[in-house]
Amino acid sequence: MKEEIKAYNSVLDLIGNTPLIKLNKVSVDLTGNFYAKVEAFNPGHSTKDRIALYIIEEAEKRGILKPGDTIIETTSGNTGFSLAMVSIIKGYDCILAVSSKSSRDKIDMLRSMGAKVYVCPAHVSADDERSYYNVAKRLHEETKGSVYINQYFNELNVDAHYKSTGPEIWEQTGGQITHLVACSGTGGTISGTARFLKEKNPNIKILGVDAFGSVLKKYHETKEFDNAEIYPYRIEGLGKNLIPTATDFDIIDKFIKVSDEESAHTTRELAKKEGLFVGYTSGAAFQAVKQYAEEGEFDANSNVVIIFPDHGSRYMSKVFSDDWMNEQGFFDSVNQEEALKIEIIK
Ligand SMILES: Cc1ncc(COP(=O)(O)O)c(C=O)c1O
Repeated sequence: MKEEIKAYNSVLDLIGNTPLIKLNKVSVDLTGNFYAKVEAFNPGHSTKDRIALYIIEEAEKRGILKPGDTIIETTSGNTGFSLAMVSIIKGYDCILAVSSKSSRDKIDMLRSMGAKVYVCPAHVSADDERSYYNVAKRLHEETKGSVYINQYFNELNVDAHYKSTGPEIWEQTGGQITHLVACSGTGGTISGTARFLKEKNPNIKILGVDAFGSVLKKYHETKEFDNAEIYPYRIEGLGKNLIPTATDFDIIDKFIKVSDEESAHTTRELAKKEGLFVGYTSGAAFQAVKQYAEEGEFDANSNVVIIFPDHGSRYMSKVFSDDWMNEQGFFDSVNQEEALKIEIIK
């Protein structure tokens, strides 16, 4: 009898089932046990693989997507990459409207995956006709046989995490998770994961991560949309200048805001101390853990799961570039000496 060939049918078979990895060195000064759900292990290197596959397959099941159709989305990069990847395997065209805040690497990556990319100004309001939301809507109207994924306002974004990320964390922790810490952009990750976990154990605390310059934390606390909260910031994918319906504010217990600078240093710390080469929002999430710890959120029995959304290779021209860190003034106040001295041998 011939041996079975142990191969996956395509990269799509590798989506999800990402590892939970204990954080050892970055957490030495903190009380509790800390575990990272490292989403960079998805084949598209981010958590957005889960929603891309789930939403496209749901649209196929419902007869909304037909062979040769076009998938359109607004994206800070990761969702676009995942949609482009799934589109290639399944035979769809992919059009993406991205923010000018997205790194050049991300835009080049999307184009390498066969997507058509429109770069839209980052610092215009969400209702401006040039915003990436409105550009995607217009392209959807103009393109026959197109489907607009609309991750900010699509309940399937939440469902994807309810059906995969939540059950995985519950199973991986043997039900012993006490706190979930997750960044909120569309809110799909935190809301779907939290919904599953709270159904299993309503005492699990859901701790959100927001950025300075975003409306989410204030909206969560007051239900007021405060324009004064909105100003430009550097972290991509975290925080918002609108209120996405994909965010279930009621299931989130608390939000904390993190700064561009501290999040950048924490991202670099994760690489240097844990060997975890993860993205800017992973650093932001762990920065939030440090701040939540200062507020006394955790004790010795806490089992804290932190979602690390994507891979560090997407930020080579940002947090992992010393020149970029210097330009932002991030080496001025802390760790002057952290700037790598590169020795050139002649
Ligand atoms: C790098 C990164 N981190 C975090 C998030 C936030 O995830 P969610 O949109 O599920 O709230 C995103 C989403 O765009 C992202 O791209």
